[in-house]
Amino acid sequence: MDAKIEQKIKLLEEKYAQMGQDLDSYLDGLLLSNYLTYWDYTQVETLLTLQNPKTDFPDEMIFIMYHQITELYFKLSLHEFEQIGHNGPNILPNGQLLGWKEKIDPNFFAERVMRINRYFEALTKSFEIMINGMEKEQFLRYRMALLPASGFQSAQYRMIEICSTDFINLVDKDVRANFKGKDTDIRELFQNIYWNKGATELASGKKTLTLKQFEKKYSEKFITLANEYKTKNLWAKYKALPEPDQKNGNLINALKQLDVNVNINWPLVHYKSAVRYLQQNTEDIAATGGTNWQKYLPPRFQKRIFYPELWTKEETEDWGKGWVETNVFQQK
Ligand code: HEM
Repeated sequence: MDAKIEQKIKLLEEKYAQMGQDLDSYLDGLLLSNYLTYWDYTQVETLLTLQNPKTDFPDEMIFIMYHQITELYFKLSLHEFEQIGHNGPNILPNGQLLGWKEKIDPNFFAERVMRINRYFEALTKSFEIMINGMEKEQFLRYRMALLPASGFQSAQYRMIEICSTDFINLVDKDVRANFKGKDTDIRELFQNIYWNKGATELASGKKTLTLKQFEKKYSEKFITLANEYKTKNLWAKYKALPEPDQKNGNLINALKQLDVNVNINWPLVHYKSAVRYLQQNTEDIAATGGTNWQKYLPPRFQKRIFYPELWTKEETEDWGKGWVETNVFQQK
């Protein structure tokens, strides 16, 4: 027998012996099992059963699938956040995977943040599919069958924010100063989360049904996650690095880029789609539940900033301004 195969069998024997298992039976299993196929591995057939439009307008399919594509990229992002939160996988020189590392390596940290940046850059670039890839007439019809659902209810989008920064930075900017420097309970901060402002009915000033349903399903999960990520969010992980590592230029740039990607570039292309479909001349077509989306969605109003400490005062004051002028209003 080939010496290499003999060596592998020895290693396998050791592997199974360590667990009190008999290699012979596992080899039988290997002889009997089928070859892996692409379709079983990727579960593509199941995946392709998940597109179920509510109307017969053909463009609704684009809308539903592009949301699903976005959610998959969000899931990829959360996968990276989890690895950073746990300091990265502990892979021994012999290739064995042994749980998580005790300390995070700043280069690993930077690389993983760059991955998240790539996912968001792919989403920002591909958002043209929403902006120009559907007929407005169809959109305005089929959207009526989707009320009161809204991308606003994307839980993964909010989880990305929770994993990115200290929770205080997600508090509505108008009341944030009241909590700054105090160790306020996450539950209390959550009462003042910035997104409540985007889910107020223009007519009555009340919470929209979209928000009420979102809260019912996810509030407790968000609070649990935020408590878990108090010490695991990207800013907390960065601040916990030894001082010389905090000067790592790649890491600082990756974090700043993430701030721009999640809090300016994606929100702006998304806003551009709302302008294309929901704004007619000066007259408005009400958004989900008749919200104040024009006053809410633009980053220059929300001023959501994950890492204010990494920006100058001027940069935070001008948050989102240049881009919106050139990309949203002139090319509308
Ligand atoms: C034609 C395409 C789209 C239009 C016209 C649109 C419109 C809107 C509007 C008007 C809002 C404000 C809340 C509301 O009134 O419901 C909103 C929020 C939101 N949408 Fe979209 N949307 C589109 C596509 C998408 C896609 C593909 C996603 C991907 C998941 C998405 C995710 C979100 C998120 C996360 C929010 C909350 C943003 C925030 O709180 O700052 N939207 N959208």
